[in-house]
Amino acid sequence: MARRIVRPVQTVSGVAAVPGDKSISHRYALLAALADGTSQIRNFSPAEDCRRTLACLRQLGVRLVQRDATVDIVGVGPGGLRRCWRRLQAGNSGTTARLLAGVLAAQSFVSVVDGDRSLRRRPMRRIIEPLERMGAHITAREGDFLPLEITGAPLRGIDYELPVPSAQVKSAVLLAGLLAEGFTTVTEPVCTRDHTELALAEFGAQIERSERTIRLAGRQRLQARQLSVPGDLSSAIFLLAAALVRPGSALTLYSVGLNPTRTAVLDVLTSMGAPIRISGLVVHHGELAGDISIESAGLSGGKLTGPRVAQMIDELPVLAALGPYTEHGIEIRDAHELRVKESDRIAALVENLRRMGARVEEFPEGLRVDGRTRLRGAELDPAGDHRIAMACAVAALGAEGESCIRDAGCVAVSFPNFFELLDQLTRH
Ligand code: S3P
Repeated sequence: MARRIVRPVQTVSGVAAVPGDKSISHRYALLAALADGTSQIRNFSPAEDCRRTLACLRQLGVRLVQRDATVDIVGVGPGGLRRCWRRLQAGNSGTTARLLAGVLAAQSFVSVVDGDRSLRRRPMRRIIEPLERMGAHITAREGDFLPLEITGAPLRGIDYELPVPSAQVKSAVLLAGLLAEGFTTVTEPVCTRDHTELALAEFGAQIERSERTIRLAGRQRLQARQLSVPGDLSSAIFLLAAALVRPGSALTLYSVGLNPTRTAVLDVLTSMGAPIRISGLVVHHGELAGDISIESAGLSGGKLTGPRVAQMIDELPVLAALGPYTEHGIEIRDAHELRVKESDRIAALVENLRRMGARVEEFPEGLRVDGRTRLRGAELDPAGDHRIAMACAVAALGAEGESCIRDAGCVAVSFPNFFELLDQLTRH
């Protein structure tokens, strides 16, 4: 899909299900590969990122079969991966590159992990440093960037304090720790998404947690599991936001993941006046899920700072896109990490929202988008970043005149059927 025209819509209403959670899908696939026995994962994410994880596992000798959203993975046990002589291609997926690096650090062979242009610009020192402390040897382009050449080794557990709040770094260390000798503890500055911890426990590992510290004994064997993945809240949020800004909308999304480390964005929207209702709560494999209903409403806006910013890092683009539709605007601070995502998301948001006529101020670690602004349709450039493309689409739904989103196919990185679902739910 090269370009996508987005026209203003009347309402975004109905019922739908979003694809399986991307973060959870990566983790279930990796742990299933390391387990003993054959796991089955249902509602596996169709995201291009998760396809990369499966493709890398295949390259490492893991047998797996995918039928629609169901993936059967034949685990090879902790020492059963085979050397891949070609580069492992993580594509656009930071989670694939970083989590896989944790696993590869403990292997008795050399691997090379590479990615696309965007991923090659993203910092990897953050995983290299702890994995080298555990005993692996890693060389990176300019010391920080992909491709990484990872020379695996018998690892030792470490006590590690994360310098940045990052679930990917935490997970890389925990996966390496699982395969290491001795105990590994990780302390994070802010509780980030805990899917790795929950998944490890589900696959049978003993793992202890107290507040921001996680402790894991190494050399534990995992057992295969039958699993199902809840819908992805970080995808659902784009449809919920679309419904919020179009008066008269009422939308229900079924079976969405509601893990408390992911729901800060719902708390923020609720505090701004969004009528959000949760029903049908269930817990599967330690992961909370439920149905989310929302209706359009006037939003007050506000300032987002501090630890909760890290807990809704993937939702900040869509919150910024809601800014012009709020009463007082939206200000996001303490979000340095947004600069090193799939694109420089602060720069991309500032550029595109301004093209639509929004009043935006840029900060080194955030942005401020004024409220009560009538947007106009424009030519938008998401810089190849899926979440920027979807945030642009949400902003465009209430603009005057049509917008054109360049390279809109990039939404496939996390939410391949985003535009189809949006079309099904919208009335012009
Ligand atoms: C993810 C962690 C976050 C998030 C990314 C997915 C994960 O990245 O932005 O989309 O699955 O662990 P960081 O760990 O870099 O914050």
